[in-house]
Amino acid sequence: MSWWRNGVIYQIYPRSFADSDGDGVGDLRGIAAHIDHVAALGADAIWLSPFFPSPMADFGYDVSDYCDVDPLFGTLADFDDLVRECHAAGIRIVIDWVPNHTSDRHPWFAASRSDRGDPKRDWYVWRDGDGPPNDWTSQFGAVGPAWTFDEPTGQWYLHSFMAEQPDLNWDNPEVEAAMHDVIRFWMDRGVDGLRLDAIHKIAKDPLLRDHAGAARRHDEDWETIHERLRGIRRVVDEYEDRMIVGEVALQDLHRIVLYLESGDQLHLAHNFVFVDLPWDAEAFRTSIDDFEALADRTAWPAWFLENHDKPRLASRFGPGPARAAAVMLYALRGTPFIYQGQELGLPDAEIPPDRVVDVDGRDPVRAPMPWSGGPGVGFTDAEPWLPPVADAATLNVRAQAGDPRSALSLFRRLADLRRATPALVHGDQRTVEAGPDVLAWIRGEEILAAVNFAAEPRPLELRGEVVLSSDPDRGDRDGLGPDEAVIMRLDA
Ligand code: GLC
Repeated sequence: MSWWRNGVIYQIYPRSFADSDGDGVGDLRGIAAHIDHVAALGADAIWLSPFFPSPMADFGYDVSDYCDVDPLFGTLADFDDLVRECHAAGIRIVIDWVPNHTSDRHPWFAASRSDRGDPKRDWYVWRDGDGPPNDWTSQFGAVGPAWTFDEPTGQWYLHSFMAEQPDLNWDNPEVEAAMHDVIRFWMDRGVDGLRLDAIHKIAKDPLLRDHAGAARRHDEDWETIHERLRGIRRVVDEYEDRMIVGEVALQDLHRIVLYLESGDQLHLAHNFVFVDLPWDAEAFRTSIDDFEALADRTAWPAWFLENHDKPRLASRFGPGPARAAAVMLYALRGTPFIYQGQELGLPDAEIPPDRVVDVDGRDPVRAPMPWSGGPGVGFTDAEPWLPPVADAATLNVRAQAGDPRSALSLFRRLADLRRATPALVHGDQRTVEAGPDVLAWIRGEEILAAVNFAAEPRPLELRGEVVLSSDPDRGDRDGLGPDEAVIMRLDA
């Protein structure tokens, strides 16, 4: 059975996880010092957001060298050590591969921009025009035209994200080959998997037609995506037992499933429908049932509710729902992705205006990981690059580890239960009727999970023993408390 189906995959944002060298920014050695914490959450793997050399316009998602480590985070030798230490602890390493765009400081772009006749000119997307060549817009950064005019050579270049992140031209086979070699570089170093950043963006209408009046978007998810994914998969399959998970940020589950079901493209695709749902039983049930109905039995879901781009659950829905969501993630068929700090029930941090660094408002979810109390919250001895959450004195790992009622204790119990209960990993799944506001599903024949999405108690017919609850005050009540989720072993 593929390793990535068993436990959870734990996302680390290296800048904010742990600082080993006292510069206020997290680094690779800091991560290596906390492998135990990850193991106790039942993680099969860590996924590291980018740690490559970067001018940091988008905090590492603007890569200026795909095959090295930014000095801020350490060295390639530190990375090799981290791989070794993770593997010794039975944890795999998944890294971010950013194929849609480079930094504008990448030597490829410097060459491309230098002259219309440069051999790398066509590695990016350049067009003439008195104004932006079409009506496509950029995401993140200053939202506006997806084109920037470059004075020296008198043409526009395409950027789906910030102007500092020019899009590579995947219609050029040399680009595809160069990016395949990047995969080999990291696989040769022992990396177990890749998270493919903004992967739906690497296939666009080669005619660059306008969206206006068109039935579909022309700047992503073009037909060519499937051939490109097969090409990536062939490279990954040169190695044994590796995994690729796509950031397929599409809202149409039908289209996401197309990236998975043929068996020769992605292993996993993040379900972006899930992450934008309101806290509502019907909405979650529909999303779960839709995936099960659409996906061929070989397709395996990848659930997530937090990452480095999205608001924290405790702030979006409140602390009770955040705990209930943890039970849901560990009990659904599929691989849950947990974002650092989610296991502590962290809220979004409040960032004073003079400390804001991300123009898109994502700083609050990137606040440093609170390991203990004190000014640097065990994250650093220096001034942290972003201020920690206000309640770090109580919400930190050390405080929560000693408190059986804490969010961290709940996550650890969930990890233990999942490990000890094969039906929670491999069991078939079907949702069942359980009354208003309650989402319930059966795993295998013996496990029932139920989540109450209401802030009031709801009845639940108990035909078995509750083995875990998100509510530390559950006692022996009947039914479900407000925002409570339970896992039950059903009577035979
Ligand atoms: C992905 C990343 C996000 C980044 C963007 C551009 O959506 O998750 O953080 O800004 O790609 O690379």
